[in-house]
Amino acid sequence: MSDLGAELEALRARADDALRAAGTTEEVEAVRHALLGRSGELTVLMRGLGQADPDARPALGRLANEIRDHVQAALSARAEELAVGDLAARLQDEAIDMSAPGRPVRIGHLHPVQTLMRDLREVFHAFGFEVFEGPEIETEAYNFELLNIPPDHPARDLWDTLYVAEPGSIELGQPRPAADGTILRTHTSPVQVRAMQALDAPIRVITPGRCFRYEAVDASHASEFFQVEGLVVDRDTSLADLKGMLEEIARALYGRDVRTRFRPGYYPFTEPSVAFDIGCLVCGGSGCPACKRTGWMTILGAGMVHPEVLRNGGFDPEEFQGYAFGMGPDRMTMLRHGIGDIRLFFSADLRFGRQFAEGR
Ligand code: PHE
Repeated sequence: MSDLGAELEALRARADDALRAAGTTEEVEAVRHALLGRSGELTVLMRGLGQADPDARPALGRLANEIRDHVQAALSARAEELAVGDLAARLQDEAIDMSAPGRPVRIGHLHPVQTLMRDLREVFHAFGFEVFEGPEIETEAYNFELLNIPPDHPARDLWDTLYVAEPGSIELGQPRPAADGTILRTHTSPVQVRAMQALDAPIRVITPGRCFRYEAVDASHASEFFQVEGLVVDRDTSLADLKGMLEEIARALYGRDVRTRFRPGYYPFTEPSVAFDIGCLVCGGSGCPACKRTGWMTILGAGMVHPEVLRNGGFDPEEFQGYAFGMGPDRMTMLRHGIGDIRLFFSADLRFGRQFAEGR
């Protein structure tokens, strides 16, 4: 056999070895390139056929073609084999273990003040109260006048108000309160009048919501806070009902042994007005810094709805009476958890918030 014939035979053997050794489709491609590429070994040998002895040329040509076909077939076969193997390996690698435990989804939880407000809702629900909500952006009329607080009444000083500016007045460098009396409500009491105007007697509602005041912010004052107002209007309600109700509520919230007391208070929209205290939850009544050494903590203001306010709500004070109370859920939450600074509630500090994730 000629040299060329021997070289062709040797190449077939080498090609087979190389393909057997190829472990990936990329390696098969490299073998193809080394043999059949433009300067591949087989390509170069076949180009040499032209110089071969004319007698031997036909036989060599056939041999060369046969080897090229063989190599091509072997390349495809190996490539296919490996591709199937790759798929099997991928299926193996990427298999999903249906029995593996799932990754826990991170679930949010309520803000502690919201938790307390929901608890309040539940307690009041048991006493037959429904929820009636009013707007956070109010008018001076509802926030003050209809609650028996005339424009120049000194009691306005009790509520440092955030006014909404008259459109255009800021641009002129002379901000002034909106002429239509739009303000941010300073308490939830305006919803008393809204509820009376919307509902028929007997009324038993609580009105939870956000309030705003122009406050010097410190550990116990925020410019944004919550209130839960309660209102009852009926034909035969009295201060005795108010007392009994508040005592029951205090027991429901703080336990049967909680001590309570009423003190005289003043609000323009209730008459008489009271402040309602519970025995200090921190020291139990012996006096500590939390209760300013009095042994008592004030948790709400209350009173019999003023006849003028009943009238503004559309009720005849000769026929109907009502009582109302206003609670501060922020403060109540601080008492519940021993939180020393109201600003934490609005701080968006997750280290604070996450402490209340438990069980909710
Ligand atoms: N609105 C009063 C306040 O913000 C609280 C209150 C409500 C008092 C209802 C009496 C009756 O201080």
